[in-house]
Amino acid sequence: MKIAVVGAGFVGSTTAQQIVEQNLGDVVLHDIVEGMPQGKALDMMHSASLREFESKIVGTNNPADYKDSDIVVVTSGITRKPGMIRDDLVQINSKIVGEVAENIKKYAANAIVIIVTNPLDVMVYTVAQKIGFPKERVMGMSGILDSARFRYYIAAELGVSQHEVSAMVLGGHGDDMLLLVREATVSGISIDQLLPKEKIDKIIERTRKASDEIVKLLGTGSAYYTPAASVARMVKCIVHDEKLVIPISAWCTGQYGIKDLYVGVPAKVGRKGVEQILEIKIAPEELAQLQVSSRHLRETITKFNL
Ligand code: NAI
Ligand code: 2OP
Repeated sequence: MKIAVVGAGFVGSTTAQQIVEQNLGDVVLHDIVEGMPQGKALDMMHSASLREFESKIVGTNNPADYKDSDIVVVTSGITRKPGMIRDDLVQINSKIVGEVAENIKKYAANAIVIIVTNPLDVMVYTVAQKIGFPKERVMGMSGILDSARFRYYIAAELGVSQHEVSAMVLGGHGDDMLLLVREATVSGISIDQLLPKEKIDKIIERTRKASDEIVKLLGTGSAYYTPAASVARMVKCIVHDEKLVIPISAWCTGQYGIKDLYVGVPAKVGRKGVEQILEIKIAPEELAQLQVSSRHLRETITKFNL
């Protein structure tokens, strides 16, 4: 497998490192800053004997090097500063990902594309419109990240292993994301049987605001370790044709009453990309929240004429 990672900043370079360390394929790390992706790639290659990987990574400033990539991960763009919301990034980042989409179309027309750049669901929509690939080959990373955070807070509150916790976050990657409480389980037991409502509400709030908390703590930039781990997990699903069901930003064609929009839904991911969206039964108020979240995404797309 050849995997291009576009944007060699915090998320891009950490993702590239996780991909090579897991031997998921050879990586081309691209950025517009001269020398930087080359330097990071060389630094990672020096660790191959210590980290025991066989994959190769090269850095480049030339998008032609995406040529014939099987997977392209797009992380290029600016991040939020404290006080900014994800929508503040729309104008600059839509221009950046739009250019990247043209390059992917030109050099890697058969690739599966994973978008990471924020505001996530709106950027996936922008790329999908520009690139014109079948929609199952374009997806966004966010639900898997928000779900990992949800799982962490549940495990921490109960003092149990995170491996035993299963949880899913749907909707747009923003303040109105939908955390499925009844479906969140510890060894198959719903958390609403294990925790009082006030504790669950606190977990929901902490998950929803996890990104803001990190942005504030870092002072500059945003989270990257778990975002990179989330992307690497998606890449692994595709490389190994795992058909894992994970929440990702996928093109909806009527599921959950949402049409012609990218939004976070549970999907089966494998070698062909998004192989199926699973329409699970959720409570009417959860469905309503998912639709509110989708409406906000549509409003942003219309407002910025994307
Ligand atoms: P960063 O600032 O560390 O890296 C961004 C990189 O993109 C920079 O190195 C920059 O030179 C590069 N770049 C800009 N224009 C480019 C172009 N046309 N071609 C190639 N490279 C280009 O930012 P970081 O922390 O890596 O975050 C990247 C993006 O990912 C941000 O928009 C951030 O909000 C988003 N993000 C999304 C998450 C999600 O859950 N979907 C999670 C974490 C970050
Ligand atoms: C996050 O959730 C910045 O969207 C990014 O951390």
